Amino acid sequence: MKSSQSNIKKAKKYLDENCCIGVPTETVYGLAANAYSDSAVKKIFNLKKRPKNNPLIVHYLDIDSLKKDCLINDNFFKLYKKFSPGPITYILWLKKNSKISKFVTNKKKKIAVRFPEHNIFKILLKNLDYPLAAPSANIYNGLSPVQASDVKEEFGSNIKYVLDGGKCSVGVESTIIDLTNKPSLLRLGGIDISKINRVLRKKIIININPKYKITSGQSNFHYSPGIPLKMNIKKPEQDEAFILIKKRKINSNNYYYLSKKNNLGEAAKNLYLCLRKIKNKNYKSIAVEKIPNKGLGKTINDRLKRASKFIGIA
Ligand code: TXA
Ligand code: MG
Repeated sequence: MKSSQSNIKKAKKYLDENCCIGVPTETVYGLAANAYSDSAVKKIFNLKKRPKNNPLIVHYLDIDSLKKDCLINDNFFKLYKKFSPGPITYILWLKKNSKISKFVTNKKKKIAVRFPEHNIFKILLKNLDYPLAAPSANIYNGLSPVQASDVKEEFGSNIKYVLDGGKCSVGVESTIIDLTNKPSLLRLGGIDISKINRVLRKKIIININPKYKITSGQSNFHYSPGIPLKMNIKKPEQDEAFILIKKRKINSNNYYYLSKKNNLGEAAKNLYLCLRKIKNKNYKSIAVEKIPNKGLGKTINDRLKRASKFIGIA
C-alpha cells in the first residue's frame, strides 16, 4: 500500500509532537523522531531497548540541510555526488553550533548521517524543519523490518503510527563509511565497497570487526532471528528451515529461496523477509547454503555470520 499525501500529513503531525513513528526507507524501515529534540530522541532508545551509548543515524533531505549541523570534506563530497540519496551512511564531525540532540551521538563529536532515497521519506523530510534520527525499527539485536507489518510486529501498539511505503527495495541496511579520518568501512551494506573504492580511487580501510566495537552492527549478536543458524550447508537436517540462494525444482515446505536465478541484489532484498517468515513458523534451527562472497553477497554473509553467533535471546 502506497502512502498518500494525507498519510504524510499524519506522520508529520506525530513527529511535530515529538512522537516516534515507523518510516519506510529503501534499505529497511526506521523508527524515526525529531533529531533536534532531546525528549523525542530519548523515546527511540526506550522503545528499541537500545543502550544509550549506541549512537543513531540522522537522515537529511540533502547536503544543504546537512551543512547546518556537520562539517563536510572532499571525500564526503565525492561519495555524496555518486551515491546519495541512497544506501550509504557517512560518519562526519558535528559542528559546534549544531542543533542535534546530544542523545543522538551520546555526547560524542562524530555523527552518522544518511540521505534516504525512498520517495515517501523524501517528501516527509521536505515537510519538516528538522532532520530525523532513525535506527532500524526493530527491538535491539533483532531482525530488521522491511515492510510496514514487520514494524507493527516489533512494536505493536507502543508506537502510534507506521508510514507505509511498501517493501524496501534494497532490503539490507546502509553501508557505513567513517570519513573523519582516512576513509574506513564500519559496516557492509547496500552499496558494494568495490564501487566506493572506485570513487575514492583507493582501497578503504576495512574495520567491520574491530576489537573495540564502534557500532552495534559490528556486534556478534546482531541481526538475529532468535534461533540457531548454520551457514555453508549442503543438506539440511529434518525439520530444519533451509535457505537457498537460487530456486530449485525441489519444492519442500521447509525450503526458502532468496532469489530466482542466483541474483545477489534480489537475495539481499529477500533476506530479512525470509528470516522473519521462518522465525514466525517455529522452526528449531536454520541452515543456509553457501552464498557467493562477492558484491552484495558479502553483506548477506556478514549478516548471516553475525546471526549465526547468536545463542539465546539477548
Ligand atoms: O539503512 C540504515 O542505515 C537504516 C535505515 C533506517 O536508515 N538504519 C540503521 O540504523 O541501520 P541502526 O541504528 O540500526 O544502525 C546504525 C549503526 C549502528 O550500528 C550504530 O552503532 C552505528 O550505525 N552508528 C551510529 N552513529 C555512529 C557514529 N557516530 N559512529 C559510529 N557508528 C555509528
Ligand atoms: Mg539496526
